[in-house]
Amino acid sequence: MQLPIPQANPKAAYANLRAEIDSAVHHVLDSGWYLQGEQVSAFEAEFAAWTHLKHVIGVGNGTDALELALRALRIGVGAEVIVPAHTATATIAAIELAGATPVLVDIDPALYTIDPEKAARAITNRTRAIMPVHLYGHPAALDSLLPLAQAHQLAVIEDCAQAHGARFQGTRVGSMGTAAAFSFYPTKNLGALGDGGAVGCQDSALAEQMRVVAQYGWRQRYISDDVGMNTRLDELQAAVLRCKLRVLDAATERRRAIAARYTQALAGHVVTPREQLGCEHVYHLYVIRSAQRDSLRHYLNEHQIATAVHYPLPIHLQPAYRGRLGDLGDFPQAERACSEIISLPLYPEMTDDQVDYVIETLLARDA
Ligand SMILES: Cc1ncc(COP(=O)(O)O)c(C=O)c1O
Repeated sequence: MQLPIPQANPKAAYANLRAEIDSAVHHVLDSGWYLQGEQVSAFEAEFAAWTHLKHVIGVGNGTDALELALRALRIGVGAEVIVPAHTATATIAAIELAGATPVLVDIDPALYTIDPEKAARAITNRTRAIMPVHLYGHPAALDSLLPLAQAHQLAVIEDCAQAHGARFQGTRVGSMGTAAAFSFYPTKNLGALGDGGAVGCQDSALAEQMRVVAQYGWRQRYISDDVGMNTRLDELQAAVLRCKLRVLDAATERRRAIAARYTQALAGHVVTPREQLGCEHVYHLYVIRSAQRDSLRHYLNEHQIATAVHYPLPIHLQPAYRGRLGDLGDFPQAERACSEIISLPLYPEMTDDQVDYVIETLLARDA
């Protein structure tokens, strides 16, 4: 068995597909066409079909994807966007980059996703959108959030950066809101060999506007109809993503199998993640909770098991946002989660031996 065990392992994902990826990369290098070519178009079509979206536009990264969705929907200065207090900073950064104001809401402590009742209470006459984050790979409570948004005529921009392919009542996340944003950061469930992202939607006019804003506001080359951005997925990353998309369903199944093995062995010893009835978690991260988080991480590290904390500080307590978006005590569930969570190693190439070793090591400490 190979030790140490990393928390995530993008190198193993590449090694698994080395011949295919190398050949795809060389094909692009030899083509002489590096942006907005056949690889990006093919990837957009393939990923759209896979995610059950009508339109997908490749962009530079997941943060750009969120910002682009907001800009295309003209949600900017003066608009409020409701968003969970426990997420990657990128979610909040994107709202501010678009000029809008993030309004943080506490999370459901069992699922780590936005609490829909608290989201309802945060709506004001300036609210223009709800941005649920399908954190760790578990769908947010779309059965409450979608009708809530509809009743108040709000856009729903799904942050699917950690949840490629997760299902809510049988339907893939990203396909039910107004727009969806994906990240292809190398460790994500669908990861590039560098930065990458995508936005998707079902509405043709919105898709067209997203394409325009993504590239300098151009409808025709060199003429900016709108104030735009420059955010593009490149041909090399698209070619790599096409190879990885072909095995994504199998990789997700493996993630789910490892998670099931962890949960079966660890439930009752630590707080294991919950999968809500009707939801299909894709386990981008396997997050447990422990009141002795830091000593547990130290112990695992001594046994060559790498862990991570996603994330150690909720948004409102981060130096850049503290006092502006909230203060200590404002979002107690997010604050508590941040002090107790640990992400265990989980990647599709992890062997059963390695999974068992993590379990045995954890249980040995408990004994
Ligand atoms: C929940 C969430 N939203 C947005 C992002 C931003 O994605 P990127 O790093 O590709 O900009 C990430 C990834 O870091 C994320 O995990």
